[in-house]
Amino acid sequence: MNHPRAVAGLIIFLLFSVGNFTAVPQLRRKPQVTGGLCAHLIQSAGFPCTEHQTKTKDGFLLGLQRVSSRSTIVRGETGHPVLLIHGLFMAGDAWFMNSASQSLGFILADQGFDVWVGNVRGTRWSHGHVSLSVKNKEFWDWSWQELALYDLAEMIRYVNKITKAKIFVVGHSQGTIMSLAVFTKPDIVDMVKAAALLCPISYLDHITSDFVLRLVKIRLDEVILALGIHQLNFKSNMGTQIMDMMCDGHIHCDIWLSAITGKNCCFNDSRIDFYLEYEPNPSSSKNLHHLFQMIRKGSFAMYDYGMWKNLMRYKQPKPPVFDISQIPTSLPLWMGYGGNDALADVIDVQHTLKGLKSKPNLLYIEEYGHIDFLLSTRVKTDVYNDMIRFFNSVQKVSSFK
Ligand SMILES: *[C@@H]1O[C@H](CO)[C@@H](O)[C@H](O)[C@H]1NC(C)=O
Repeated sequence: MNHPRAVAGLIIFLLFSVGNFTAVPQLRRKPQVTGGLCAHLIQSAGFPCTEHQTKTKDGFLLGLQRVSSRSTIVRGETGHPVLLIHGLFMAGDAWFMNSASQSLGFILADQGFDVWVGNVRGTRWSHGHVSLSVKNKEFWDWSWQELALYDLAEMIRYVNKITKAKIFVVGHSQGTIMSLAVFTKPDIVDMVKAAALLCPISYLDHITSDFVLRLVKIRLDEVILALGIHQLNFKSNMGTQIMDMMCDGHIHCDIWLSAITGKNCCFNDSRIDFYLEYEPNPSSSKNLHHLFQMIRKGSFAMYDYGMWKNLMRYKQPKPPVFDISQIPTSLPLWMGYGGNDALADVIDVQHTLKGLKSKPNLLYIEEYGHIDFLLSTRVKTDVYNDMIRFFNSVQKVSSFK
C-alpha cells in the first residue's frame, strides 16, 4: 500500500474518528462524472435537484443545490426550506453519503422539506471567485469568520429571497461554529426560523483528540503559514507529505482514526473508499490557524492578527468576541451531541449552553462520536427523527400565531 497517499485519507477524519479501524484506505482518483453535486449524488438516487449559484460580498461564487422529494405527492419545493451547512474539509455531499433512508438530505426531502445544500468557498461544489484564482494566495485569505459572516450570511439571504420564507438551518461541526457566529447578527438571524446543530461548537478548549492536540502543540498551523502554504489540500502531494511527516514516529498510523476524534459507534467501514471519492475538501491554512487559536485561548472570537494588526482592523488590541448571549431567545434551537465526540466535547457544549440565553432542545447520545451524527448507519432513528419532530413542532406553533 502506498503509504503517503493512504495517510492523506487521514484528513477526511480530521473532524471525525472511526473506532477499530485497521485497513488504511487508498485514495481514489476523482470520479470522472462531470457536473455538479446534483448530477453526482442526488439525481442518480432519484431525487429532483437543481443547481444554484450566489455571490458573497467579497466576490466568492458559492454553489447551492435545491433538492425535493422523490414522491410527487409530497410538497417538495413548496415545503418548508431548510439549509444544510457542512463541516470542515467537507462539502454539501456530506449530507448524501449513505442510502436515501440514512442520509439527512434525502430524508428531509422525502419528508416534504424544501432542502437547500450549502457549499462554502474553496470546496468542490462552489465556483471560485469573480476575479481570484485558487492559485492566488488571496483566494485562501479567510477563516470560519468569513465563512460565517459572508458565506453563510449570503446563503441564508439567497434562500430566504427565493423561498420568501424564514428558513430552518442545520449545521454540523464547523457548520455550527458558523451558525452560532452569524446568529449573533440581528439582520441575518431575522431570516432564520429555527436551527438544529449537530456536534455544536463555539468553544474548543476541551477537545480530547490526541491527534489534534499534538498538531496544536507543534504549532502546525503557524508552521504551514510560515512556509507560505495558504491552501490546505490533502489530495495534493504537499498535503500527503505533511500528513506523512506528522504521522511518522508520533502516532501509529493504523490507529490514527480513533485518535482524531474519539470512537464512533456506528460507522460503516466498508464505505470508506466511497467517502474518499468526495472528501476531504480543501480549506485554508488561515482557517486552521483560527480554529487552533480557539483551542489555545478558549475563546469564541474573531481571528487574532496580533495586537498591532488587531488595533488597525478591530480598533482594539484583542479580537472582538462573538457574544452568543446576543442570539435572540425567539430563535428555537435544537442540539445533538455525543459522549464520544473528542472535538465537540461535552464540557465545551455545556459552556456553550451556559452562554446562550435560550434553552435549546437537547439530544445527548452517549456512544456517538463526531461523525456518527452524519454517517451512523442508525442516525435516522437515533437523531434525525427527533430533529424533524422539533422542526415540525416549530412549524405548528408558528402556524397558530
Ligand atoms: C455498509 O456499506 C455497504 C457497502 O456500501 C452496504 O452494502 C451495507 O448495506 C452498509 N451497511 C449498513 C448497515 O448500512
